[in-house]
Amino acid sequence: MKTSRQTMRNQIISCLVFVACVVNAMAKTPYKTCGSKLGVATNVSVSGCDSSPCILKKGSSIKITVNFTSHADVEKVEDAVSGIIDKIPVPFPTPHPNACTTKGISCPLKKGQNYTYTSSTPVVASYPDLRLIVRWAIKDTNGDYVFCVLIPAELK
Ligand SMILES: *[C@@H]1O[C@H](CO)[C@@H](O)[C@H](O)[C@H]1NC(C)=O
Ligand SMILES: *[C@@H]1O[C@H](CO)[C@@H](O)[C@H](O)[C@H]1NC(C)=O
Ligand SMILES: *[C@@H]1O[C@H](CO)[C@@H](O)[C@H](O)[C@H]1NC(C)=O
Repeated sequence: MKTSRQTMRNQIISCLVFVACVVNAMAKTPYKTCGSKLGVATNVSVSGCDSSPCILKKGSSIKITVNFTSHADVEKVEDAVSGIIDKIPVPFPTPHPNACTTKGISCPLKKGQNYTYTSSTPVVASYPDLRLIVRWAIKDTNGDYVFCVLIPAELK
């Protein structure tokens, strides 16, 4: 049987966990937009990151959420993610690049409509420690971006 002290302790713990979850969910991540012809990002959230640079823990999984507005009807979109290291973009393949199927948005995109894009990507443990700028975008079949954001980050 639980003593009331244990019960109280459990309540405090679940409260702390709950607050941590809310803070995490509310995290507003510093970012800049890069040029995107077919739309624009309006809000970005990377799990656990509310300051710049984002610390990306190797061996963990990061979740990125991007609200964006489409400025055109777009048939299909796919991820276009790079790590910019010393000004040189290095393509970063995402596990499921088709952004129409696994990212919470439905295609075709409609002009003037708001969407919430969500993706989870592993941060591979074997990457070296370095600072980089993550360029996260989605593009149509012509390679034109629907949104494009730059997020300063550090792999640790
Ligand atoms: C951006 O998204 C976060 C998390 O979804 C939310 O808490 C925040 O209010 C949003 N920012 C704006 C400007 O709406
Ligand atoms: C971002 O999308 C979420 C989920 O649809 C919504 O709750 C939030 O208000 C949106 N934020 C902005 C800035 O549009
Ligand atoms: C889309 O989002 C923008 C920016 O958050 C907002 O100003 C606009 O009213 C939204 N439009 C629709 C159709 O929800």
